[in-house]
Amino acid sequence: MLIEIADLFSPQEVTEMRRVLLDQPWVDGKQTAGVRSARGKFNRQLAEDNEVGLLLGQRILQRLSDNALFMSGALPKRIYPPLFNRYSAGESFGFHIDNAIRGIKGVRERVRTDVSATLFLADPHSYDGGELVIRDTFGERSVKLPAGHLVLYPGSSVHKVNPVTRGERVASFFWIESLVREDSQRSLLLDMDVAIQRLTTQQADDESLLQLSGVYHNLLRRWSDV
Ligand code: NI
Repeated sequence: MLIEIADLFSPQEVTEMRRVLLDQPWVDGKQTAGVRSARGKFNRQLAEDNEVGLLLGQRILQRLSDNALFMSGALPKRIYPPLFNRYSAGESFGFHIDNAIRGIKGVRERVRTDVSATLFLADPHSYDGGELVIRDTFGERSVKLPAGHLVLYPGSSVHKVNPVTRGERVASFFWIESLVREDSQRSLLLDMDVAIQRLTTQQADDESLLQLSGVYHNLLRRWSDV
């Protein structure tokens, strides 16, 4: 399941974030890749302990915690502190799959990467290429969103970043360990949640709503691990 979250940050906010970010020292992205995926990875990243990156990451997570679609689509249990990358002309990241478990630098905590997130931080007209291509059960999906928009996709999927041929792609990326490990189960729960919200605003029959909410919570109880 792919979920797009629009306007997490305004264009003005993103411009300011990008200005601060691009001023930081950047390192070769191969430093955080596994041996196999490092071969196809050509980009730069902020070091995981970069203070500016850590602060901006907290801001992103704060914003997400107020976002209803994120909360009900990802059902977050733990979130890996957001990282930042940039791809200039000629840079790309070939098809790969993310590590299933990521240790958080400096703490003894690990995150199972059930859901992957990319927050686009550059205007899509300012660069060519750089699409995030995700293989799912329906084939390949190509994602290139306006600055300030975020996409969630299953951590289990094979994906790549197309070569940038002009300009620069800047993004934040991170992973979510969900209360519900399986993408198909999260997808059903989100569908049901959205329908219940809609019925609530339409002032549907109370007894039916109660029944449906009961089903939602009892499925969540069955499928979640806390
Ligand atoms: Ni990846």
